[in-house]
Amino acid sequence: MAQKIIRGDHSRMAKKLKNTAGNGIGAAKGKLGIMIPGMGAVATTFVAGVEAVRKGHAKPIGSMTQMGTVRLGKRTEGRAPKVKEFVPLAGLNDLVFTGWDIFEDDMYTAASKAGVLDKELLDKVKPFLKSVKPRKAVFDRHYVKKLDGHHVKSGKSKMDLAEQVRADIRDFHKTSGADRLVMIWCGSTEIFMQQTAAHASLDSFEKALQKSSPEIAPSMIYAYAALMEGVPFANGAPNLTVDIPVMHELSRRNEAPICGKDFKTGQTLLKTVLAPTFKARMLGVSGWYSTNILGNRDGEVLDDPESFKTKEESKLSVLEHILQPELYPELYGNIFHKVRINYYPPRGDNKEGWDNIDIFGWLNYPMQIKVDFLCRDSILAAPIVLDLVLFLDLAHRSAELRDIGIQEWLSFYFKSPMTAPGLYPEHDLFIQSMKLKNTLRHLRGEEMITHLGLEYYD
Ligand SMILES: NC(=O)c1ccc[n+]([C@@H]2O[C@H](COP(=O)([O-])OP(=O)(O)OC[C@H]3O[C@@H](n4cnc5c(N)ncnc54)[C@H](O)[C@@H]3O)[C@@H](O)[C@H]2O)c1
Repeated sequence: MAQKIIRGDHSRMAKKLKNTAGNGIGAAKGKLGIMIPGMGAVATTFVAGVEAVRKGHAKPIGSMTQMGTVRLGKRTEGRAPKVKEFVPLAGLNDLVFTGWDIFEDDMYTAASKAGVLDKELLDKVKPFLKSVKPRKAVFDRHYVKKLDGHHVKSGKSKMDLAEQVRADIRDFHKTSGADRLVMIWCGSTEIFMQQTAAHASLDSFEKALQKSSPEIAPSMIYAYAALMEGVPFANGAPNLTVDIPVMHELSRRNEAPICGKDFKTGQTLLKTVLAPTFKARMLGVSGWYSTNILGNRDGEVLDDPESFKTKEESKLSVLEHILQPELYPELYGNIFHKVRINYYPPRGDNKEGWDNIDIFGWLNYPMQIKVDFLCRDSILAAPIVLDLVLFLDLAHRSAELRDIGIQEWLSFYFKSPMTAPGLYPEHDLFIQSMKLKNTLRHLRGEEMITHLGLEYYD
């Protein structure tokens, strides 16, 4: 089985990547196929948005690849090209899509049900959305208790299901005419799982697939199939999925980059901006209470305690890493941090996230900050999906990035960024942003920006 890794579709794709366009980065020629397990609110808002931008109905607001710039050289040089002109990214017109879901709805119907985008906009892109129909999903209610659907594959074993997903990938590759592929998980949050011996190596994982072991969640089956086919994989949910040794190994061996976990969109985005502020000014934090109400299907899934636990772990980890209580015990050694998510159907996708933050300053005097973010979950997530698929494809074409496995430079987009084993993740949004832009500068042979600035005072 292990030998299959270096054969098949993977090697065909690798040959195409050798067609480089300078600095060891292959040109973004031809179509990029985007494969999405989970065609719900986030996925449909992303695909409808791409089509709306292509047709000139809207602007790609929130997308760093489409609207962002990179400063190059000294502040006096005035060089700040757009990201998409600085590095060779696939153009929006070259994107083609497919996906899997447990419901049979095409993307127009699914987007209408999700209720994120208004009918007027959806109708402008209706024929295109209607054409994107889900393939049968790999699904098991054990891992997402609140959902049940019948558009589901059946097979003799989990290995058989993985082979079926691999066949889907090859089919899409052929029928769409895509040159390159990327897979991004936009499916529901699965129950909380921890790494076990089954996830330790390719051998143990494949044995577990053959035995249909409960240690293999559906999201892992998609990820395994993608990596076996040499297709990069991003994980938008907090599930374990690709954050296990077998996937790190497969990713490196098959030169298929991976990244995750859990899109950083609303409350956690603001948390990773506010917490570094307190630390930078050495202000103490005694408590941080975060609660949310939301009424979309994601909210319904998270109403199950086992799925909520997966999300909770992801949301809680952020403060510990940013505030470093082991370095600053008097300031952060005794924080009470609580995160709640409440399913409240009237709000639909328009989540409300409240934060009460108890901080203390000079001579221990207490202060409070209240944040009330009336956000739109999928509106915040869709541009992240776009940037991730374009950057993962870039990494796949880069001689330097394609065989390192985890793409830590994409931490900017995640609540629980994946890192090399044993390394703590960077959660501070502005460190993440600098890391991302310095990686782009590095790829193009430009100088890193250190912000030292002494050179202006010679
Ligand atoms: N919107 C945000 O701001 C945000 C932020 C971080 C993470 N996320 C995560 O992104 C994911 C998608 O969010 P959403 O709002 O689109 O949820 P959603 O419920 O609208 O969509 C998820 C879709 O996945 C499908 N699905 C579930 N299991 C599947 C499987 N095994 N195979 C194929 N399809 C499957 C469901 O049927 C559903 O259509 C969730 O895990 C969510 O936690 C969202």
